[in-house]
Amino acid sequence: MGYKLLNGKDLAKRMKEEMSAEVAKLAEKGVVPGLAVIIVGNDPASRIYVNSKKRDCAEVGIKSFEYALPEDTKEEQLLELIDVLNEDENVDGILVQLPIPKHLDEQKVIRRINPSKDVDAFHPYNVGELMIGNHIFAPCTPAGIMELLKDAGLSVEGKNCVIVGRSNIVGKPMSMLMLHANATVTICHSKTQNLKDICKHADILVAAIGRAEFITKEYVKEGAIVIDVGINRTEDGGMTGDVDFDEVSKIASAITPVPGGVGPMTRAMLLKNTIKACIMHKNICLS
Ligand code: GUN
Repeated sequence: MGYKLLNGKDLAKRMKEEMSAEVAKLAEKGVVPGLAVIIVGNDPASRIYVNSKKRDCAEVGIKSFEYALPEDTKEEQLLELIDVLNEDENVDGILVQLPIPKHLDEQKVIRRINPSKDVDAFHPYNVGELMIGNHIFAPCTPAGIMELLKDAGLSVEGKNCVIVGRSNIVGKPMSMLMLHANATVTICHSKTQNLKDICKHADILVAAIGRAEFITKEYVKEGAIVIDVGINRTEDGGMTGDVDFDEVSKIASAITPVPGGVGPMTRAMLLKNTIKACIMHKNICLS
């Protein structure tokens, strides 16, 4: 049995083409969406992510503003910058690239962002709205996964969805989006007992663990849909997911590759949220 490759790179490209057209329409009205990206310190992976986000913005016509702050930035300085960006009419979205250095209180920083500019959907206000199914901004990675499934014609309704990983960025919001789409959801984590058994019952398995090729065929039911959120660096400088692709693709009915699966979708959703924020802020009707 062959598997369907869930190609996030292709779908993200199509979405970006649509978003470029939308941004061009906004430009006709004299409006340009703006995204402020704050990076604190010198984490090499964060630098790569921030550069990609800026490139994506340029590609669709969104203005991006980068604020690169030193590792020893004081919390008050970062909070003051957020205050300024909250007031800036050219800025529709504010993103603080995570992780931030340990001496800074991540939750305090996130809470300082105006929820209407919180395009990551990390602010407790947006987390709460997501919980009751009333959200404006969906968190980028889980929302990207839902788009990828939808585009492939794969419904989650009534399905057994198992998410491995309980982070605020992926696992928890993923569970909410799947629940709202009428799935039966299980969240697993490092203390879960019988992990293999639980995963083996999944119709849709989402791996957001952060351990290279952790999910082998022993964790996967024949014909399952497997979503790999992992980005793990290999010794040779390459990249691999949380799923052993070669092995699992032999039994899955659909699977995302790494790279080219979930990653590009996360980035596309960030652009989508930024455009949404802009339309909201400027009170524009495009249709
Ligand atoms: N670090 C890892 N993923 C993300 C993300 O989606 N947003 C931000 N701001 N930081 C991250």
